[in-house]
Amino acid sequence: MATGKGLFGSSIARKYWMALTGLFLCSFLVIHLLGNIPLMLGHQDDFNLYARFMTTFPVIKAVSYLLYASFVVHAVDGILLMRQNAAARPVKYAAYNGAANASWSSRNMGLLGVFTLVFIVVHLKSFWYEMHFGKIPVYIYEDGTELKDLYTLTVTAFQELWYTVFYVVSMALLGLHLWHGFSSAFQSLGLTHPKYTPMIKIAGAFFALVIPAVFAAIPVVIYLAS
Ligand code: HEM
Repeated sequence: MATGKGLFGSSIARKYWMALTGLFLCSFLVIHLLGNIPLMLGHQDDFNLYARFMTTFPVIKAVSYLLYASFVVHAVDGILLMRQNAAARPVKYAAYNGAANASWSSRNMGLLGVFTLVFIVVHLKSFWYEMHFGKIPVYIYEDGTELKDLYTLTVTAFQELWYTVFYVVSMALLGLHLWHGFSSAFQSLGLTHPKYTPMIKIAGAFFALVIPAVFAAIPVVIYLAS
């Protein structure tokens, strides 16, 4: 076991933080996916109201800061772990047990994480930055309220083929990252059990397939409908 110091101390503490932040980010993905479904259905009002709620409701704003911090901790610790593993070959990413170690995604978690980070930077620039700091069209809701038209901004972005392909490829890579990451987070937290660990693995595989697939469907449906 490597003992290098990283964010929050030892490499064991680092793995704990990666697991905790990773599972928190997984819960964000579910909420984010549900919130984005109206985009695919052409529900402009629902999406713009949801976007306003998510960016203005105080509790959600507070959770957003936790989310940004989780991304930073997860990415920084992941990069430190990747560098540490590269320096200490043949010891690979987290010395977990058995067959799980053999999967391609488990051996390339760092690389997959870096791809996901690149995706998030591009993604945040396209939508989050524009929503918070850019000039986006205003849209008048039926009760006269002025809403930022994030719906049109998003739907317009997915009329570009390259941007749609970028999302589909990114979601495939995110799926590979989650394929190993979801269940290994439970192992890092010491939550292993002969009866429940196989179920967690199945839940992880399901999560890694379904969540990115539905995310990827959003730009594809919008592109094909445009
Ligand atoms: C088709 C896929 C996706 C679409 C259409 C989409 C759309 C959006 C939009 C419109 C926003 C700006 C609204 C806001 O600031 O709340 C946003 C924010 C964000 N997205 Fe996505 N997203 C997608 C996938 C993802 C994925 C896979 C991740 C993470 C791996 C992600 C991470 C984020 C984050 C961290 C924010 C900022 C949230 C906040 O400010 O609280 N998104 N997304």
